[in-house]
Amino acid sequence: MPKITILPHHQTAEVEAGDTLLEAGEKAGVEMEAGCFNCSCGTCSAEIVSGMQNLADPTPEELDVLDQWNKDPEKVRLTCCVKILRGEVTIRQSH
Ligand code: FES
Repeated sequence: MPKITILPHHQTAEVEAGDTLLEAGEKAGVEMEAGCFNCSCGTCSAEIVSGMQNLADPTPEELDVLDQWNKDPEKVRLTCCVKILRGEVTIRQSH
C-alpha cells in the first residue's frame, strides 16, 4: 500500500492507490488546508519533499493554478487534485 508522511509533524498513514494527497493527509490525521476541492483555487498547495515519482502527473488545470501562484510543479502540487499511485510520499503543507 502507498504510504504518506506529512511534515512538520511526521504524521503517517497507509492509503489506497488512487487516493488524493488531501484524502491521504486526512487519513494521517492532519487537518489539510483546502478551499474548492476542485483543482482551481490553489489553497491546498503542498511541497512534495520526496516521492514525486509516485504521484500522478499534473493535469493542465493543476499546472494553470500552480502557474498563477508562481509555484514550481516539480516541487509543489495541489493536494486536492493529485493522486498517489504507489510507494512512499512525503509532503509539507505550505500554509
Ligand atoms: S482546494 Fe482548491 S485547488 Fe485544491
